[in-house]
Amino acid sequence: MRTVPLWRGRPFNKWGNMLKKGAYHLAVMGATGAVGQEMLAVLEERKFPIERLRLFASERSAGEKVLFRGQGLVVETLSEGVFSGTDIVLGATDSALSRQFTPLAVAAGAVVIDNSSAFRMAPDVPLVVPEVNGQTLMAHRGIIANPNCSTAQLVMALKPLHDAALLRRVAVTTFQSVSGTGQEAMDELMDQTRALLAFQPIQPRIYDRQIAFNCIVNWDADPTTGDTEEETKIIQETRKILGDMSLRVTATTVRVPVFRSHGEAVSLETVRKLSRSEAREVLARFPGVVVMDDPARKIYPTQLDATGSDPVYVGRIREDVSTSNGLHLWIVADNLRKGAALNAVQIAEALIRNVA
Ligand SMILES: NC(=O)c1ccc[n+]([C@@H]2O[C@H](COP(=O)([O-])OP(=O)(O)OC[C@H]3O[C@@H](n4cnc5c(N)ncnc54)[C@H](OP(=O)(O)O)[C@@H]3O)[C@@H](O)[C@H]2O)c1
Repeated sequence: MRTVPLWRGRPFNKWGNMLKKGAYHLAVMGATGAVGQEMLAVLEERKFPIERLRLFASERSAGEKVLFRGQGLVVETLSEGVFSGTDIVLGATDSALSRQFTPLAVAAGAVVIDNSSAFRMAPDVPLVVPEVNGQTLMAHRGIIANPNCSTAQLVMALKPLHDAALLRRVAVTTFQSVSGTGQEAMDELMDQTRALLAFQPIQPRIYDRQIAFNCIVNWDADPTTGDTEEETKIIQETRKILGDMSLRVTATTVRVPVFRSHGEAVSLETVRKLSRSEAREVLARFPGVVVMDDPARKIYPTQLDATGSDPVYVGRIREDVSTSNGLHLWIVADNLRKGAALNAVQIAEALIRNVA
C-alpha cells in the first residue's frame, strides 16, 4: 500500500495531502447505515469544520438525498477515483468493502478513520480511543482504526483502573444490542417483536435464531476453541489499546433484544488493591466516564439511560469477595456513539488539531 502519495501538485505532508485548514473535505463510506447515519448526526452536533461532504453507500441507496446541515446531499456509489481531493474518510462499511476502498482512499491522499475490523490489528495502524491512547494517533500511515463497540466502552472504564492499580485479569460478559449488528438487525428485532405480539410466525434473517424475547450468540465461533469472533476481537483490541499484549482478558458475548446501547458485566483483578470508593473516584475523574452508582437509591445505568448520549456509564461498582484484589463493574454506553460514530469523529478532531 502506498503511504506517501504524491497528490497532483497539491501540498502534502508526511502522511498524506492533509494540511491545516479552516475546513476539510470529508467523505463517509457507508453513510446510510446505522453507524454512518450517526456519524452525520455527530459531525453536525459537534460543528466539525467541513468544506465539502460526500456520502457513499451501495447501489440500493444511490441517488437518495440525506439531510445534512439543512442541505440535501445525494448518496453516491463507490468507485476508484472518488476520493480525489478528500482529506478525511470516515469508514462505516463492512470489512470486505473497507479492504477494497481504504487503500484507494489512502493512495489518493486521504486519512481513513475506519470502523470495520479490517485493519484494527495491523501493527502500523493505530487503534484509537482518544481518551485512552490518543497519543498513538499521529503515528498513523493513512489509516486509523476505530475499535469494536464493546471494546471501546470497556477500555474507557479499564484505563483509569489500570493506571491506578495495574490490571491483572479482566473477564467481561456483554449484553449487546442489535444495532451493533447494523440497521437490518434493528429492523429484524422490530419485525419479529411486532409479528410475535400479533401471534404471527417469524423467519430469522440476520441472526440464525429468534432475537425478539431471546438472548443469543452471534454464531461465528471458531469450532476448535468455541470462541466467537466478537470475543476474540474484544480480547485482542483491549490488549492493543491498553498497550499490553499479555494482559489476561477473557470475554463472553451475548446479543440481547435491545435496540441500542451495550451493557457489560466486568470482573477484574488488580495488582494493588482498590477499594470501592477509590475505584469510584478514579473512574469519576476520567474524561468521558460518568459514575452512576448509588445502591441506596437504586441508581445504576441501563441501556435506555445511555441511548443517544456520549458518556460511558459505570455502576454497580463492588468488591469481589471471591478474590483479594477484585472488583465488579457494570458498564453501559451507546454503541453507535462512543462505540462507533462519536469515537471516529473524536479521532478526526484530534487529527485536525495535530496536523501540521
Ligand atoms: N453498529 C455498531 O455499533 C458498530 C460499532 C463499531 C463498528 N461497527 C462497524 O462499522 C461498520 C458499519 O456498521 P453498521 O452497523 O453501520 O452497518 P449497516 O447498518 O449494515 O451499514 C452498512 C453500510 O454499508 C453500505 N454498503 C453496503 N454495501 C455497499 C457497497 N457495495 N458499496 C458501498 N456501500 C455499501 C450500506 O449502504 P446501503 O444502505 O445502501 O446498503 C450502509 O450504508 C461495520 O464494519 C461494523 O462492524 C459497527
